This record gives sequence, C-alpha cells and structure tokens, in this order.
Amino acid sequence: MNKKNQIFLKNSFILSKKDIKNLLLQRNELLSSLQKFFRKNLGRFIFTKLFIFFFVKKNINKLYYKIIYKEFLLIKPFLKKAKRKKNFLGIGCGLGGLEVILQKKIFNKSNFYLFERNFTSHKVVYGYDKSNKEAYNNIKATNLFIEKNSIDKNKFKLFNIDQDKLPSVKFDVVVSILSLDYHYPFEVYYKYLKKNSSNSAIFIFDTIRPEYFKKIFKIVKIISIDNKKIHPSSRVYCKFFL
Ligand SMILES: C[S@@+](CC[C@H](N)C(=O)[O-])C[C@H]1O[C@@H](n2cnc3c(N)ncnc32)[C@H](O)[C@@H]1O
Repeated sequence: MNKKNQIFLKNSFILSKKDIKNLLLQRNELLSSLQKFFRKNLGRFIFTKLFIFFFVKKNINKLYYKIIYKEFLLIKPFLKKAKRKKNFLGIGCGLGGLEVILQKKIFNKSNFYLFERNFTSHKVVYGYDKSNKEAYNNIKATNLFIEKNSIDKNKFKLFNIDQDKLPSVKFDVVVSILSLDYHYPFEVYYKYLKKNSSNSAIFIFDTIRPEYFKKIFKIVKIISIDNKKIHPSSRVYCKFFL
C-alpha cells in the first residue's frame, strides 16, 4: 500500500460506487432521511431494487469509517483479553470495514477468515430468520474492498458459506456484528464453532437473547445494549463452551 493511501485510511475508507447498495443495506445508519422516507412509503421491494441508489448521503466513505471505528472502540477492551491472536474469524463481515480496522490496530499478524454470502435478497426485511434466507453482500466487492483498504490483503481468506467448504481451523477470536444470533440463530454455526475454536477462544456477537448464552458458555458478559435498532439486542462477550 502506498503512502498516500495510508494517510487516506486514517479516517476514511476507499469505496467504489458499486459497494454502496449492499453497504446501505448492511448499515442502516448510512441511509439518508429521503431514502428512509422512500423505504417507508414505497415498500421494501421497490426500495431495495431501485430507490436505494437515489439521495445517497455525501461522504459515505467517511461516515462508514466513523460508524465502524465506533464499533471498534466498543469491543477493543474485550478483544485485548484474547490470549491468542493467531486465527480471527469474522462471521457476516459485510464489506469488511471492521476487519480492516482490526487488522491495522490489533491483529496485524493474524490470519483473517471471513464468512459471508454472495447475494442480495430481493426484499430486505431484516427479520430474525430461523431459516437464514436473507443476505445482502457481494463476495467480490468484499475482496476488492479488503484489497484497497487493508494493510495486508494476503492475510484474508473469504468464504462463501453457501458454496465453499468451511476451513478446519482453531479460531482464537470470533466476531460477528449484527449478524450471528441477530439475524439468524447461533445454531447455524454452533457445532462448527465448538469444533473449530481454541480452548481460550473469545466470541463477540450481537444477540436478541443474551440470557440464552449462559447455557452455551461459561462466561457471558454484556458489552452494550441497543434498544434503538430493528430488534433490541445486546452485544456479548463469551468464553469457554460448556
Ligand atoms: C447487518 S449486516 C452486518 C454487516 C457487518 N457485520 C457490519 O457490521 O457492517 C449482516 C450480514 O450478515 C450476512 N449474513 C447473513 N447470513 C449469514 C450467514 N449464515 N453467515 C455469514 N453471514 C451471513 C449478510 O449477508 C450481511 O452482510
């Protein structure tokens, strides 16, 4: 990465226009008030298909960075508790902003494994979907974003969970923001994570049912509670599978 990009990365991401549609679906905070108005009044199908491209906020690259940096600061003290940092897993990373920041700030020697999907639902409703049918991502876009924004793209391996064989790795840190147990049940990955995590692995994710995890992990700590999002959720830090 050249010097110019390193300076640029201090408070912004490099985004391509093609990234914007999925990014707006992944992070609702980036929608302008006019876009929210159209979503409410035209319905989610027409909005997702067409109107999402209109009235996009200015400086979306800086705003995305700001939002993700805030997420980073929130989980940073918990990430520092990780005993080992060799293998990092990001579940539902979206475009990958958080993982890019994490590589730069904490995990600069780690291997990054990212699990995502490669389609955008026709009508994005953001439910808690037991059958896990919804997605809003493009794997190629995530790869390109990482290439443009990370300090070392070679440390990243991106998996399309609907097609690729998931790796047999002992993960040390697992992070899933607004994805695992927020949009779909933890059980989708439960057996896989139990088998593929180191004894001291830490897990940070958003959940609509924090109490439930006391049956799954020995340590469960609430990092934050958010009652303003689509479904009220808690961000939890968990350790030691029971
Ligand atoms: C609300 S977005 C959050 C994206 C990102 N974590 C962020 O905070 O910006 C949820 C993401 O989960 C992805 N997703 C849905 N089902 C998934 C699954 N089974 N495994 C991995 N990712 C999934 C979606 O495609 C989407 O990109």
